Amino acid sequence: MKAGILGTGHFVPEKVLTNKDLEAMVETNDEWIRTRTGIEERRIAGDDIDTSDMAFYAAEKSLENAGIAAEELDMILVATVTPDTPFPSVACMIQERLGASKAAAMDVSAACTGFMYGLTTAKQFIESGDYRNILVVGVEKLSKIVDWEDRNTCVLFGDGAGAAVVGPVSEGKGILSFELGSDGAGGKHLYQGKHLFMNGREVFKFAVRQMPEASVKVVEKIGANKEDVDYLIPHQANIRIMEAARERLGVSEDKMAKTVKKYGNTSAASIPIALAEAVEEGKIKDNDLVVLVGFGGGLTWGAVALRWGK
Ligand code: UT7
Repeated sequence: MKAGILGTGHFVPEKVLTNKDLEAMVETNDEWIRTRTGIEERRIAGDDIDTSDMAFYAAEKSLENAGIAAEELDMILVATVTPDTPFPSVACMIQERLGASKAAAMDVSAACTGFMYGLTTAKQFIESGDYRNILVVGVEKLSKIVDWEDRNTCVLFGDGAGAAVVGPVSEGKGILSFELGSDGAGGKHLYQGKHLFMNGREVFKFAVRQMPEASVKVVEKIGANKEDVDYLIPHQANIRIMEAARERLGVSEDKMAKTVKKYGNTSAASIPIALAEAVEEGKIKDNDLVVLVGFGGGLTWGAVALRWGK
């Protein structure tokens, strides 16, 4: 039995913060942000929307699209580094709100790679036969930990949530291979102290090496060729890093998700948001070979190759 994605959903807050808006807040400019990162604007959740609210809205949509009732969920995994509180977990908060009466619930902490860790964890529970339906959410309210006076970081991040319902799919479909990794020695380059701290250049070097490598590995693991990849969803951190992965895989520009322009880097939410939008826009079709790949704090990385469809 293989585990695959049965339905997706996403939520982003309404408030838009443009590069122009940031020019009034820190010493920066639209031209620098666009050319160095590909970001034009990002969404910011107000005081009335916390992480669990965004997770709940995205989760509701994914259940609806999957045609699965909340009571049918066996487990909820929420990837986030910006929970409402350290505990109870966001997963428990949405368990109650969704009415997922028989679901186990926990948060997963792997920063921007969190959704990949959540997805591959769900796969294990499903393929072992222990559980059937698992909700995986990637959600962040980074605006609450970003230092709004630090131009090195505040221009990069945004808030949002993406979700996927994972369950058994037919032969040949679903998650075909995965690759996860960590390098704690690099933890000092990206962490939360009082605020989010990042050594951008070091993270950049790590990402342009690791993301293409992990993407190629998951494709090789299933004995496919790079040309077989129909759609690539890289973590939406920086268009230059994403392009490095795309070029290594040799997929054409129109086959890569690009939401970084309008949402910035939403950490654990970036891959599931991009996935949900691609599905909604009909960019991913039945039987497509889709590669998801992320990297982030930890340092961590993760990739998945999956055959789309139930
Ligand atoms: O989800 C995972 C988390 N993070 C990432 O993926 C980020 C990885 N890193 C990056 O994306 C890039 O390193 C950045 C976008 C953060 C920076 O781009 P860069 O091409 O590596 O620029 P840089 O750090 O080499 O900085 C170039 C210059 C510096 O000035 P000096 O020292 O050359 O005079 C910075 O002070 O740009 C300056 N700078 C800015 N200028 C205008 C840094 N931030 C800004 C800014 N506006 N917002």
